[in-house]
Parts: sequence; C-alpha cells; structure tokens
Amino acid sequence: MDELLSCTRCQLAATRQRVVVGSGPTSARLLVVGEAPGRTEDEGGEPFIGASGRLLFRLLEEETGLTRADCFVTNVVKCRPPANRPPRNEEIAACAPWLEAQLAESAHRALLTVGNTAGRAVFGFTEGIASVHGQRFERDGRPGIATYHPAAALRSTSVARDLRADLKLLLELVAP
Ligand code: URA
Repeated sequence: MDELLSCTRCQLAATRQRVVVGSGPTSARLLVVGEAPGRTEDEGGEPFIGASGRLLFRLLEEETGLTRADCFVTNVVKCRPPANRPPRNEEIAACAPWLEAQLAESAHRALLTVGNTAGRAVFGFTEGIASVHGQRFERDGRPGIATYHPAAALRSTSVARDLRADLKLLLELVAP
C-alpha cells in the first residue's frame, strides 16, 4: 500500500492534497466504504472525519454500540474530486485495485457501503440506493448492508431515519 501514497493512475493526482488511504485495524469487525474524500479528508488524510463522518459514526454507535475503532474505513476513490463532484467511471476503475487489495487484506465479518458509488462498486448492484438500502448483500462470502450516504442524511430527516434503521441491521451481521 506504500505505492498508493504516490499513485498517479488518474487525473485526481493533480488536484489532491493527500491520498486518503483508509484508517482502522485490518482486524476490524466492520469494513465501511464511502465514495471519495471531501475537503476535510483531503486536508486531514483520513476518511470520514468531516460532518458526514461524525453523523455516520454517531448513528452507528447509537444503533449498534460499534465505534469507529471497530471499523476499517475507506473510500472507493482515494483522492478528492475537485469541488466534490462525483468520481468519474475512469477514476473509479483506476482506483479499483486499491479497494480490491483492502477487501482482500481485511478480516471484517461484515461490510457497510454508504451511497450509490460505494454500493455499486462493492456489491455490484445497478439500482439506486433508495430501492436497495437495507437489503443484505454479499461480497466474497461476507455479508453486508448498503445504505444512504450520511451527507444525504444531513439534508433530510427521513433519510437519516432510514440510515439509522439500516445501521441497526449490522448488529446481527457482526455478532460473534
Ligand atoms: N464522503 C465520503 O464518501 N467519504 C469520505 O471520506 C468523506 C465524505
């Protein structure tokens, strides 16, 4: 993964401040996958350290008792897209080997994807997240849940309610 820190496989290398590799123990029970770093993450070098991350991990702890320390946290795309635009297909494809390596290295019991980009990349569905959130998926024989991106939950109380309900489903999946 040292190579990732100097990756130039796509054009995002030209505008990023830092590569946001991922954080947490590879022995974590839950692997959390988001879309791409935002401004705070590009500056701080860790995924989900801004407002949406704070909401996600607060709800996760309230609903399951799991804390960020129980999670390995990463994104589909490891560098911030300019102005937080959605990552392009070629950027997702260029970054895919890094995500594949993280999925293979991690000892997680279950996966959580947040938002369309992460759910599609990890579980391979093509529908929008509104139709599939809360469903149980599998990746490499391990169970997972796809839910809304917490940034959407910051804008809508009904999305926040659905996100909370989806997170609760993880309890059963991560149980020993
Ligand atoms: N949104 C994401 O999808 N990932 C982050 O790390 C931060 C915001």
